[in-house]
Amino acid sequence: MRWRRRSFRAMPTHPDLGADERPAVRFRFEGREVVAREGQSVGAALLADGVDILTRSFKFHRPRGYTCGAGACGNCLLTVDGLPSVPSCVTPVAPGLEVRRERGWPSVDVDVLAGADLVSRWFPAGFQFRYFRQHPRAGHAFERVLGLLAGGGKHLPPAASAPVLPIARRTCSVVVVGAGPSGLAAALAASDAGADVVLVEEQERLGGRLRAETATVSALGLTAPGPRLAEVLTERVARDPGITLLRGSALGWYEDGVLPVAGRDALHELVPHVVVEATGSYEAPVLFAGNDRPGVLLAGAISRLFHVERVRPGRRYVVVACDDRGIEHAIELHHLGVEVVAVVDQRGADEAGTERLRALAGRGIEHLAGARPVRSHGRRRVRGLTVRTGDGRRLRLRCDTVSVAGPLRPSEGLSLQRRYQGENRLSAETPGQDLSARAPVLLRVGGSAGRTRVQDAVDDGFDAGRTAATAVGNVAPFRPA
Ligand code: FES
Repeated sequence: MRWRRRSFRAMPTHPDLGADERPAVRFRFEGREVVAREGQSVGAALLADGVDILTRSFKFHRPRGYTCGAGACGNCLLTVDGLPSVPSCVTPVAPGLEVRRERGWPSVDVDVLAGADLVSRWFPAGFQFRYFRQHPRAGHAFERVLGLLAGGGKHLPPAASAPVLPIARRTCSVVVVGAGPSGLAAALAASDAGADVVLVEEQERLGGRLRAETATVSALGLTAPGPRLAEVLTERVARDPGITLLRGSALGWYEDGVLPVAGRDALHELVPHVVVEATGSYEAPVLFAGNDRPGVLLAGAISRLFHVERVRPGRRYVVVACDDRGIEHAIELHHLGVEVVAVVDQRGADEAGTERLRALAGRGIEHLAGARPVRSHGRRRVRGLTVRTGDGRRLRLRCDTVSVAGPLRPSEGLSLQRRYQGENRLSAETPGQDLSARAPVLLRVGGSAGRTRVQDAVDDGFDAGRTAATAVGNVAPFRPA
């Protein structure tokens, strides 16, 4: 059974991107060999291999699988080379990697502890410490039992814990956090205008959602599909002597002006004049019972699986939409050669636009206006979705994948952090504003500024890069005490 699923899920050819010629990479998963493609993530390689359940939930041991593809939901945590709770959807495969799942007894696939789910209706809030107020000893004992049942991974021996990283401090003109479409454009524009730029990115490949964009996008005088443009911008960044690419995660921007970045070899303390926040956006999930069952994925994760990972997560799809992005996503899936049963559109009948509805009808995709998902079904992964239609009927749609195109939420942690601290020397500005004679500034661009279209994000990034370079001469970095 497994080889049949794999043969369907792996995509040797892509209708737009052609044959997948990436070399094979072999790694070990729970004692057996898995063949992946160079650049694939561990989570996607396992999905292609037919592994639907990557972990189990803490309390009731419900199955969990690949969901967001962005390291944001925790449904794909695995032990990788002995390191517990690694988000496998953003961890690239490497030859000889040892991967195993963490929860479940005797195994994640056949988990006796999932029996807890049968009594979940009587314990909806899980463990309550107040039950043991009169019996503290029993409470501590039960805590230990819960720790064993719910825990993921194993403690590392002290010798295996991560080494303490050295600290490297550096002053620079512009720091761009995030190397998606707007971040790449901002870094190139700022460097072109003479600024000394540090570009911070935690993912292995630069480009972010540009890599999963099938429409053509224009930048640097070139108009090309997103993945091709991502390659061009990545090459330009690598060749640009004014840009330093720093691999790591930005941890915040603190009162003394230090922006720490947890890198692979050091903790970098950057002291910038201008910060460009190009951290993109998150897809918000849509609420319904069983919205975290394996086979329910966010639409962005599905696009990424098809276009970047070259993996088809399923054969029959239902798309849950709350705006036009969902309808465009359904059309994209149809173009990719999979069956789309219906679009469950939470908006009213007149909000989708006749042209889009005609496009769906022409492809044989049912549009359910004013409908809501109620519950997903399936034991180990999705087998169907019950929806309530606009006129109050309940329909059960047969599918093996539910794609949730929820609203996009800006990822604006850096600017929110500054505002919450009451910092008045710094403010979130929009590109193009006159920043002369200002204290160190933060520019929010692309997805983190609410731009949902990739082309808008790229244009925004170029504007912000030029603005940042202009501002550098007029602002000073905070001087750490
Ligand atoms: S964190 Fe990996 S799928 Fe969400």
